[in-house]
Amino acid sequence: MSKPPKEPIWPAREHTLAKIAILDAYLNAWFAILGRSVKSDMLYIDGFSGPGVYAGGQDGSPIVAVKAAHKARCDAGEKWTAKTIRMVFVERDSERFDILQSRLAIHQRQPNLSIQCINKAFASAFDEIRRQHMDAFTSSMPLFAFLDPFGVKGTTFNILQEILSSGTSEVFLLFDADGMERIRVAGGAAGCEAVFGAVFGGPSWREISFTDDIKSNSRKILAAYREQLRGRAGAKFSFSFEMRKDNGASGYHLLFATKHIRGLEKMKEAMRAVDKNFIFADGQTGQKIMFGPDNNAVAAVDAETYFNKFCSGKRIRYGDIRSWVLQETPYMRPDTLLTEMSHRHGVDSVIIGGKVIAPGSKLVRWSETETITFRDRLAPRKKGLFDQE
Ligand SMILES: C[S@@+](CC[C@H](N)C(=O)[O-])C[C@H]1O[C@@H](n2cnc3c(N)ncnc32)[C@H](O)[C@@H]1O
Repeated sequence: MSKPPKEPIWPAREHTLAKIAILDAYLNAWFAILGRSVKSDMLYIDGFSGPGVYAGGQDGSPIVAVKAAHKARCDAGEKWTAKTIRMVFVERDSERFDILQSRLAIHQRQPNLSIQCINKAFASAFDEIRRQHMDAFTSSMPLFAFLDPFGVKGTTFNILQEILSSGTSEVFLLFDADGMERIRVAGGAAGCEAVFGAVFGGPSWREISFTDDIKSNSRKILAAYREQLRGRAGAKFSFSFEMRKDNGASGYHLLFATKHIRGLEKMKEAMRAVDKNFIFADGQTGQKIMFGPDNNAVAAVDAETYFNKFCSGKRIRYGDIRSWVLQETPYMRPDTLLTEMSHRHGVDSVIIGGKVIAPGSKLVRWSETETITFRDRLAPRKKGLFDQE
């Protein structure tokens, strides 16, 4: 990651704008859906708010969030069921904090919206937030935290665990896996032990089998971190993708953790809507895949990759395949991949309503299947006269 800017307001780079566009798209869905279904308050936390504006005049994350909340509230009209939307913005830098407060001032007087700004480091502000909004951490109140630090420091695993302790909380965070690897390589001089200990919430990172391959090490750090989020922090689903820097080289990762598959679907929809700026990087192989693989030829190649990696010779529940596809591939649903696998004789049988059915004997709607049994390998792809698909 490049050095953090020193000036209070800095120019937004392409990937910054894309990140904000994803947040915007997701929050529009989050406020709209939950605001019409819950009867409680909702809590939104931005732990690294910035000044709320970029040098080019574009809105920063706090303003985008406030506007999304306001729009959802207005659009819903009578259908709105939630009570107050509580929004907490934390910024450590005093100059940026002052600018943020002035940018938020015009939004302060909206009905059913409470805005709180805290001029502290997030880790210490979090104690205050937790105390004041205890109900959001201990009930089914929707809670969304956006954590967007410069680099690897500023938040700890314990904080993520606390946020994710409620059944209805979600976290969207920047994870600088490359930065973590640089710190690991630098060792004691960069405070490696303390940084990794805080990020992983203990010594579990020591189990990662590091090699001399820096890129592969970054991927392993990311994979281990996601595992922690799902295991120790209790997120059921996590999804990560790599943001490209303006020069096309890999940058850092956006990571989303939730307990609800619908939340993950909505977040992936938001990511796909800004696909040109993002690549999905396969967590295990590093294979880079663009979002939006709606092209059949791409799907055919992907089907083979995923068949070999996840399906070959196994019997798997449709729900598990769906969850895996959502978390580990750029696809929204497994159906296109399953159809391709079936055309290439990779599916042995499926179980629907307790009955074993051979594929092809009846049109299979994949979402109706309980389990799918896969063969060991796929038949080669059929080529046309001129070797086309
Ligand atoms: C990447 S910027 C945030 C940009 C903002 N989220 C947006 O999208 O518009 C990170 C911000 O976090 C602030 N910051 C750095 N360390 C912090 C800490 N420990 N706690 C709170 N804020 C911090 C920086 O001053 C900076 O404004």
